[in-house]
Amino acid sequence: MSHTPHRLELQNINIGYGDKIVLRELSFQVPHGSRVAVVGPNGAGKSTLFKALVGLLPLQQGNIFIHGEALGLHQDCVAYVPQREEVDWRFPVTVEDVVMMGRFAQMGWLKRATSRDRDAVQKSLMQMGIADLAEQSIGQLSGGQQQRAFLARAIAQEPHILLMDEPFTGVDVTTQEATLRLLDHLQEKKVTAIVSTHDLNLASSRFDLALLLNHRLIAFGAPREVFTKENLAQAFGNSLLVMENGMMLVDECCPPDEQFTIND
Ligand SMILES: Nc1ncnc2c1ncn2[C@@H]1O[C@H](COP(=O)(O)OP(=O)(O)OP(=O)(O)O)[C@@H](O)[C@H]1O
Ligand SMILES: [Mg+2]
Repeated sequence: MSHTPHRLELQNINIGYGDKIVLRELSFQVPHGSRVAVVGPNGAGKSTLFKALVGLLPLQQGNIFIHGEALGLHQDCVAYVPQREEVDWRFPVTVEDVVMMGRFAQMGWLKRATSRDRDAVQKSLMQMGIADLAEQSIGQLSGGQQQRAFLARAIAQEPHILLMDEPFTGVDVTTQEATLRLLDHLQEKKVTAIVSTHDLNLASSRFDLALLLNHRLIAFGAPREVFTKENLAQAFGNSLLVMENGMMLVDECCPPDEQFTIND
């Protein structure tokens, strides 16, 4: 079978923890440079998928190909911004240290930072508007600032694929806007971005593709084709309220005033 370079491809994978399967028989392909929103209820397996894509969780079945080769060979070009709740913020490192970690794969075996590494770190800090916080300990930052430090680390890594797990949840507007600007910038550089979100409006307005999950793939494609009443009902079940002029998700993570209107 031939593989187009720069494509991310999942073939019939099962992922989970121990004997438990969280995501079953998942197959999809992401073209190079596209922007994918991953949507599904709490516990659907979004974070689990991201962990498998960076090799943090072994596959129970199936294959993942990046650039046409098995995951592992190309781990370096995948950057991952974890969901806020999954990070131990007491870890005693400065913002600059966190961002420098993004350069580790590029450094030689001595792991000594060169001026090119330091420039890349500085540029990423500036791009995320946190250059003045470089010396601060990561644990002392606000949630939005911490998130921006992790985004800066991801940029410093110069990835081909960027995974962001709920970057829009629980952060201030400045950070949300910085994240959206970053996504635009990365798209110009043909970086593939895969982003989980509970915001269906954002997923349909700012993303090329949507992946709807609930322990299995419910739909994958253009957002307007994925976010149909039928598909959303399959994914969210009783948490989906269908009203006259739209739908509302009464999911824990979704603010109750956020209503989503389907296009059909
Ligand atoms: N380390 C773990 N060990 C065992 N089970 C886990 C572990 N992490 C997650 N799970 C389980 O896997 C399932 C999927 O969890 P996951 O965190 O991937 O969901 P999610 O879609 O990211 O949800 P959320 O929207 O709340 O972030 C859940 O049932 C969860 O309890
Ligand atoms: Mg999650």
